[in-house]
Amino acid sequence: MNDPLATKPVIAKCEPSVIDVEADRLYSWCTCGFSQSQPFCDTAHRGRSTMKSLKLMFDKPQKVRFCQCKQTSTPPFCDRTHETLGEDDCNNK
Ligand code: FES
Repeated sequence: MNDPLATKPVIAKCEPSVIDVEADRLYSWCTCGFSQSQPFCDTAHRGRSTMKSLKLMFDKPQKVRFCQCKQTSTPPFCDRTHETLGEDDCNNK
């Protein structure tokens, strides 16, 4: 029997990924946490989660702190919510 599809994200890492993004390039941020290409989507949500990636572009090059804990209230940006997560949630992440 298949597992039910996840409706909430899993924690990929308890720290942001800081990336220099390019202007006018399409980025696909992982919302479910299953991707092995954090912080971006590798389509691992398919068949495992009801969540889909968040697509976005930037109008100028800049340094972006992408959330990897997937608990941010300002997706895809880190809002430091990861600092409030417990050790059990963050061990080895
Ligand atoms: S990594 Fe998720 S809020 Fe910072």
